[in-house]
Amino acid sequence: MISGHGSNASSQGDAQALDYRANIDLIDAAKAANVQHFVFISVLGADRGYEDAPVFKAKWAVEQYLQSSGLNYTILRPSGFASNLLPLAEQFRQTGIYLLIGDPRTRTSIVSTDDLARIAVESVSTPDARNQTLAVGGPEILLRSEIPQIFGRIFRREPIVINPPLMALDGVRSLLGFVNPSAQKSLGTLRTLLSNEFFCAPSEIAALESLFNFKLETLESYLRRNLSV
Ligand SMILES: NC(=O)c1ccc[n+]([C@@H]2O[C@H](COP(=O)([O-])OP(=O)(O)OC[C@H]3O[C@@H](n4cnc5c(N)ncnc54)[C@H](OP(=O)(O)O)[C@@H]3O)[C@@H](O)[C@H]2O)c1
Repeated sequence: MISGHGSNASSQGDAQALDYRANIDLIDAAKAANVQHFVFISVLGADRGYEDAPVFKAKWAVEQYLQSSGLNYTILRPSGFASNLLPLAEQFRQTGIYLLIGDPRTRTSIVSTDDLARIAVESVSTPDARNQTLAVGGPEILLRSEIPQIFGRIFRREPIVINPPLMALDGVRSLLGFVNPSAQKSLGTLRTLLSNEFFCAPSEIAALESLFNFKLETLESYLRRNLSV
């Protein structure tokens, strides 16, 4: 069984219902059905104790529940997905504009979503992936400011980077607190993502490539393939 669902802005449910409770129920159901192996898509940094980020808290609690469940498991902790950037790249194609909230020098190792899917599927048949918790990132550590540069190369246009400080998001969150406290809570996950570094060490990437026996794809390659440029 591979659990890859999760909460997002458009889902009918929050982190508690979807990222926590639905996974606990799935693990219990998997045990009852004698499932041979449970692969859980967690998140890079789940173990860092981010108190203000409901998704991170839920993932961490599920990781612990899965580890003590008695099931064979593989926990994958991916960094940001390259597929998140496809709509932003399409916007950039039209306008040349890239919105970068927060510090442009924070590091990230965005993972090809296709590579992550392959690793999730192959975890089941890779003996050394059994009962392991693996960080999954792309092969390069990027500064967030390099993303618009990559877009610029792909579409051959100079990026116009709009770079509001994190305080702007904090302002929106404070206002939301008056009208929609649950949306305010969910924005805590976004703030955590924007204010921290999420990248894999070269040794983690090398170990992953050796374990699954393929080379991880760069962000630029993923984008060119999926944008047909
Ligand atoms: N995106 C990232 O950068 C990132 C980074 C690290 C970890 N992750 C984790 O990776 C997983 C996939 O992320 P994603 O960004 O691909 O998520 P996504 O695009 O938001 O997809 C979420 C999935 O969950 C399903 N879902 C939502 N509510 C549901 C419900 N009530 N019942 C059944 N299914 C429901 C959705 O189904 P429908 O398509 O039918 O709506 C969708 O397939 C999540 O666990 C996420 O936390 C994501």
